[in-house]
Amino acid sequence: MPNIENLITEINRLKKDKNAIILGHNYMEYGVHLVSDFTGDSYDLAVKAMRTNADIIVFAGVYFMAEQASALNPDKKVLSPDPMAGCSLSDALDVETLKKYKKMYPNSPVVLYINTSIYTKALADYIVTSSTAINVVKSLDADVVLFGPDANLANYVEKKTGKKLIRVPPNGRCLVHASYTKQLVSLARKKYPNAKLMAHPESPLEILEAADFVGSTNQMIKYAKDSESKEFVVATEIGMLNALQIQVPNKRFYPFMSMETCACARCPYMAMVTLEKIKSSLVNEKYEVKVPNDVAEKAKRAFENTMKLLSH
Ligand code: 13P
Ligand code: SF4
Repeated sequence: MPNIENLITEINRLKKDKNAIILGHNYMEYGVHLVSDFTGDSYDLAVKAMRTNADIIVFAGVYFMAEQASALNPDKKVLSPDPMAGCSLSDALDVETLKKYKKMYPNSPVVLYINTSIYTKALADYIVTSSTAINVVKSLDADVVLFGPDANLANYVEKKTGKKLIRVPPNGRCLVHASYTKQLVSLARKKYPNAKLMAHPESPLEILEAADFVGSTNQMIKYAKDSESKEFVVATEIGMLNALQIQVPNKRFYPFMSMETCACARCPYMAMVTLEKIKSSLVNEKYEVKVPNDVAEKAKRAFENTMKLLSH
């Protein structure tokens, strides 16, 4: 196995030679954080992808993120280190199901979470992330909104906006966050009595109601930096501890799922993106993510609709 320093040096050299950048999701393993030009949440990285002058974007995240970056940047080469890195939410919604719901609710705007395939995004009016969903739904001139595929996020947005959300499909869930229970909250509170509990909105509502802070992965970093508290329990995918420890080094972060619970909070898809695969991706310029033009244009419009709405 190549040593990690050599891999990092090699990746940095390849980036320079090829005018490439690496966009890394906050959930990435530690080494991937070190080679990333930008790390962030889904919204932030999609915007960064639109603003780069690099010729190649390596997306160190799951496939739908690389697909989104490609749709927003049809002239750039967007590479996915492992195109099999999927997402249980993205898998939960297909084009035919969405079309069926659109027929049933022809007057309701379609708001899709970014964790979807680009083909479903092309049928949406707005693409949201965990950091933008509440503001977008709140500002829509509609009381009934088609929203998918995360039913937990829908519960939270519904509570915060007072609007009626039709869940498309009824039961889409993130396989990491969906397993969180109230018992885990009690365990964490007992074990870390001085820590604030931060939770991701893909978690069940009972967790969000018990948390001290709810937000996207970037919003968690900001909360940890700004808070007077020195300790935090992090109720989201475990790779997030890397982002927090790197960006907020003077504070302590504890996993929500610990050894006592005998559970693992690592997303198997995020874990598929490794330094070795990133290097191979740069060397061989694979796997290039290409989206048909008409699909990309429609998905891009839905993403831009969100940006416009948020800039008002
Ligand atoms: P954010 O980084 O946008 O909060 O989303 C987390 C996530 O689950 C990505 O799969
Ligand atoms: Fe999808 Fe959940 Fe993994 Fe994020 S953590 S990529 S939502 S399965």
